[in-house]
Amino acid sequence: MTARTFRLVYTNCRCDLRKRGEVALSGDGPGLVTLCLVCGIVGYVGHRSALDVVLDGLRRLEYRGYDSAGVAVLDGDGGLAVERKAGRLTNLEARLDEVGRDAFTGTAGMGHTRWATHGAPIDRNSHPHCDVTGRVAVVHNGIIENFAALRAELEAVGVEMASDTDTETTAHLIARAYDEGDTKGDLEASVRTVVRRLEGAFTLVVTHADHPDVVVAARRSSPLVVGVGEGETFVASDVSAFIEHTREAVELGQDQVVVIDRDGYRVTDFDGADAQAKPFTVNWDLSAAEKGGHEYFMLKEIEEQPEALANTLRGHFRDGRVVLDEQRLSDQDLRDVDKVFVVACGSAYHSGLVAKYAIEHWTRLPVEVELASEFRYRDPVLDRDTLVVAVSQSGETADTLEAVRHARSQKARVLAVCNTNGAQIPRESDAVLYTHAGPEIGVASTKAFLAQIAANYLVGLALAQARGTKYPDEVAQEFHQLEAMADAVQKVLGTIDQVRALGRELADSKAVLFLGRHVGYPVALEGALKLKELAYMHAEGFAAGELKHGPIALIEEGLPVVVIMPSPKGRAVLHSKLVSNISEIQARGARTIVIAEEGDETVRPFADHLIEIPAVPTLLQPLISTVPLQVLAAEIARSRGYDVDKPRNLAKSVTVE
Ligand code: G6P
Repeated sequence: MTARTFRLVYTNCRCDLRKRGEVALSGDGPGLVTLCLVCGIVGYVGHRSALDVVLDGLRRLEYRGYDSAGVAVLDGDGGLAVERKAGRLTNLEARLDEVGRDAFTGTAGMGHTRWATHGAPIDRNSHPHCDVTGRVAVVHNGIIENFAALRAELEAVGVEMASDTDTETTAHLIARAYDEGDTKGDLEASVRTVVRRLEGAFTLVVTHADHPDVVVAARRSSPLVVGVGEGETFVASDVSAFIEHTREAVELGQDQVVVIDRDGYRVTDFDGADAQAKPFTVNWDLSAAEKGGHEYFMLKEIEEQPEALANTLRGHFRDGRVVLDEQRLSDQDLRDVDKVFVVACGSAYHSGLVAKYAIEHWTRLPVEVELASEFRYRDPVLDRDTLVVAVSQSGETADTLEAVRHARSQKARVLAVCNTNGAQIPRESDAVLYTHAGPEIGVASTKAFLAQIAANYLVGLALAQARGTKYPDEVAQEFHQLEAMADAVQKVLGTIDQVRALGRELADSKAVLFLGRHVGYPVALEGALKLKELAYMHAEGFAAGELKHGPIALIEEGLPVVVIMPSPKGRAVLHSKLVSNISEIQARGARTIVIAEEGDETVRPFADHLIEIPAVPTLLQPLISTVPLQVLAAEIARSRGYDVDKPRNLAKSVTVE
């Protein structure tokens, strides 16, 4: 692969690469286009330093990706200052210190933090991207599927690309629309003309040096919210970017364009007709999105789990009945259900695996739990009596969204379980049950996972109630036991210091295995996932009964094996089988770390380390047994010197299949 160097002429751009008049394009052309599929975006027009507001906003959006960061600030004097840098936001800040911040004194601007999928996360592919004159700058979240045709069209008229991205084409197209024809001199109309031509999912935010007091944004599928303050207006991928300044927000709809200025915002559709967007007031504050004195967000979020559970359940039991949120499914719809699918990814998938045990037990309906990325490619049997529960913290995960679309195309009814108000998955579902875990910043899911289990259980109880497979007093009892789990989790949090100390001891291990039976099996999978995500350590979760069919060959002297013990009082048979499994692995030299119910004396002789949890009903145990595993993974990662909140190669929400 060769590096080609182009000499470009830019007249009025302070974008560093272009000022130097030289960019390198590796590869042989558009085949190497880079796409930006998760990404955080923030735009601002107001009375403060746009650079400060945008950098603060990006800091809170960095969970969406941290492969590069960039800013563009309008100086109000016809200048547009652009800087971008590969790597984390701190790299961009160091770069700004190096070049000086004098050009960045304006009060309107925008910024971007990127999670790269295809193509190298290097400076020239970082956003913002400019047109050839450097008067238009664009940041983008999403994928422009017809970029190759657009790029060819631009190259045919002599435009030379400065990056390998799909995004850059939009900067050139907007500049050209602005300079000629019906849309000449009209930035908003130029943006509309261009977005009408784009295929794919995208949010674009655009600035033009001739319009120092406005920022224009367009949305199709990728998220975008407006923040309305006093004499200042924001756009961002999510409200955490501007919550410090205002709680008044507006959720943009599909295919809408918004123009923000100091006095507010105006929304139109892609054709220019006035359009409605949904205002809402954010009910959490900045402190909820800050670390609150913790070393890292994940630890804070682990500690917030009792509250997340209580908030998720609050209001869902009224007049002796379980009620779901935006329940657009009637009791008759729930009675007609003859099969349940849970589709999800990552930790959300594990929450579905846990719920399968409860939903089948309570409703006698068959429940299949499927990785969303596999679901639609294997022609699952779906019809109007199938209930598909799509679980997603972000509500943006592309695999889950596509599974929802497939299910609906087959006439199945879709209920979204989601933590993000107004996200795409709930918007495209028949009904939604929101988890109220609050913002989850740590990339590895913790409080959202527990909230998902609770919400999935509510779905199970609502089904059992509508179908009469449980008497009303049984439904009430199950609900109240679920409610009581917030206190049980609080109690488990009392073991954090003990678990952290154990984490430090295990930090040099090469691998860790996790074993469980029944609902303890998905907990073992979740424990292993957490360790892989955070500590980059080989970790596997197994059904303990499966050990003898292969995995036992992995056991060697000193290998840490975490075992999740069921209650000795609940399913005694499960308990005694697991005691045998632990003795088998201990006999082969494993170092056993056992999570067991307080007072479970039978297990003590087999436990090199014992972590005690309160006695709770069997089906609810995952809500507490997961907690030490989260702490363990985070502490091992911290001891190994890794960034707990931002593990390498991962992003909080993955909007690519
Ligand atoms: C990413 C995250 C995981 C998360 C998964 C599903 O891969 O790293 O922690 O469980 O996405 O996310 P969702 O937002 O759909 O729950």
